[in-house]
Amino acid sequence: MIFTVAIDGPAAAGKGTISKAVATHFGFPHLDTGLLYRATGRRVLAGEEPVAAAQGLRPEDLDRDDLRTAEVAQAASRVAAVPEVRAALIAFQRAFARREGGAVLDGRDIGTVICPDAEVKLYVTASDEVRAARRYLELSAKGAATSPAEVLDDLRARDARDAGRDTAPMKPAPDALLLDTTNLSIEAAVEEAVRAVKQKLEQGRR
Ligand code: CDP
Repeated sequence: MIFTVAIDGPAAAGKGTISKAVATHFGFPHLDTGLLYRATGRRVLAGEEPVAAAQGLRPEDLDRDDLRTAEVAQAASRVAAVPEVRAALIAFQRAFARREGGAVLDGRDIGTVICPDAEVKLYVTASDEVRAARRYLELSAKGAATSPAEVLDDLRARDARDAGRDTAPMKPAPDALLLDTTNLSIEAAVEEAVRAVKQKLEQGRR
């Protein structure tokens, strides 16, 4: 069975948590495509040229524990605007999306560019303030020295760059289901996502 769940949306909207929960629920493998850009951005911070960094990515680059910092996030969003960097990462993502047995991918352009034929597309959003508060909690729990205002500025800068770039800008696919998690608990958001996937799987069986 080929069955792709595409989950897109801006920074810290809840994509990661929802994707992991959906993947676990249905037994699908999950790819956090942001990690590909973060790992590329980290290699660029270490001195590499962006396109060479993307082309040279190795599986172990994705396992590093320093990919979640604000500095790497900004570097990721800068390399993500380079068309040749995106091109270098497409084949791997497409193959993952269409692998036998189903797949969940989360990112910015999964439903629009990587897998426009995805069986389920979700676009997860939340207000800037709620997203910043969530990301601030995550980062400060890891010991990062930051402030809610700094995190908000960071998210807004990244969203503007991600939505404003020419190649694969962040935007909902026309057929995506919009999931605004501003006032939703994570359990309720996961429930909605699971319901959408279940419905589509059942349609396929009919
Ligand atoms: O976790 P968070 O939502 O903050 O970010 P992420 O999903 O790890 O993505 C980091 C950066 O990678 C984003 O700001 C985008 O610039 C870029 N990205 C992208 O361009 N396309 C994707 N499919 C995934 C991430």
